[in-house]
Amino acid sequence: MIHLSLTTKFNEQLFDVNFMNFTDTISSIHHHLEVAEDELTGWLKLPMNMTIDDLNAIQFLSEEIKENADVLVVIGIGGSFLGAKAVREALSPNFTKNQNGIEVLFVGHNLSGSYMKHLIESLHHRDFYVNVISKSGATLETSVAFRILRQYSVERYGQNAKQRVIVTTDPENGLLREIAIAQGFRRLDIPSNIGGRYSLLTPVGLLPISVAGINITEILQGACQAAIDLEVDDIEKNEAYRYALLRYKLYSHGYQVELLASFEPRLSYIHEWWKQLFGESEGKDKKGLFPASVNYSTDLHSLGQFIQEGNPLLFETFLHFNNISEDYYIPFNRVDDDDLNYLSHRSLNEINAISKQGTVLAHAQGGVPIIQIELEKLDAFHIGYLIYFFMKACAISAYLIDVNPFNQPGVEAYKSKISDLLNLESIVNLVAE
Ligand code: PA5
Repeated sequence: MIHLSLTTKFNEQLFDVNFMNFTDTISSIHHHLEVAEDELTGWLKLPMNMTIDDLNAIQFLSEEIKENADVLVVIGIGGSFLGAKAVREALSPNFTKNQNGIEVLFVGHNLSGSYMKHLIESLHHRDFYVNVISKSGATLETSVAFRILRQYSVERYGQNAKQRVIVTTDPENGLLREIAIAQGFRRLDIPSNIGGRYSLLTPVGLLPISVAGINITEILQGACQAAIDLEVDDIEKNEAYRYALLRYKLYSHGYQVELLASFEPRLSYIHEWWKQLFGESEGKDKKGLFPASVNYSTDLHSLGQFIQEGNPLLFETFLHFNNISEDYYIPFNRVDDDDLNYLSHRSLNEINAISKQGTVLAHAQGGVPIIQIELEKLDAFHIGYLIYFFMKACAISAYLIDVNPFNQPGVEAYKSKISDLLNLESIVNLVAE
């Protein structure tokens, strides 16, 4: 389902990864993941364990939202919004996002006043639902946006506002859960044993994706296939383990940055989701590859120069879908004043794929090691497959460098500094009054 390869120009020996040397290490990580029920590993079996009733409940709610609203406002940050946004972008047309669903707007991932003002203004003449998503139920950006949107909902819908608010949170803990119970908002559960960045296939991702008009059954079918394929404890047959090992090998040889690259603009938010997944899972204890991304051709005319000839600190991982149904053909021009007739009647997707091949050759020649991840088709099934593939590879990658894939202690540092500053400001203001 996924084809993986490694291309390097220099020192082939160095990267001739002998996967078999890692058999024992991988096996022990594999078994640790399988039995580590106390850790946040609920996502591993989630696609298989999802029942028709679970799915129907989400789809039913999604239909209600689509019938009664023009917009779904999703409030969340990090793992509580990136996955839904990534899948929505990847599977929707570039310029008309809500072809089979309604518009989904994301807020609560910044504290910008202008962003909020513009968002509220954009809702003035449209009907909307709100889906606030937070596992902890206490994230500042999310809570602030929810307070504003709650109030605006009451201004717009009065007593009926609560019908239009859906709370997605932990089933047992958190302030958001308490608010939902007290106010009578409908709730969707984020399973306690699944952390934010591994939660795309829970209601966190599935409700907004379904409201955007994307077939969540197909997403889950793809993820389920991946869960089956990538359950095997055999490095030669498990592409997620091979990807994790290739990254690990490159990291061990001094590479510090992994650049995820693709030639399809619709994948740019898959890059963002991937960066968050790997960055928060691996970047701790002064270890980890720095996950960055590029969108080609765009970035060939900016970062391309650095990648080709700059500081050799990075390797590239190309993400490519072999078949994209929408395409466009270059027309024939009788005058040929632009000298492009040699390309006439050729498909842009075909030229884009050749451009990818040329870039791989050039960058490899420049000394950049290249991993290639290829999938058959850009559709819901393969996106579901890819998501699960990356999550599994990420958990294995983190264990290979001996860090916990499921916590993010470093994120607390900025939160507590902001909180200190905001509290200090309040005290100063109070004294001034
Ligand atoms: O992966 C994670 O756990 C984080 O990125 C969280 O998703 C993010 O910090 C938001 O947290 P919460 O859902 O608790 O508001």
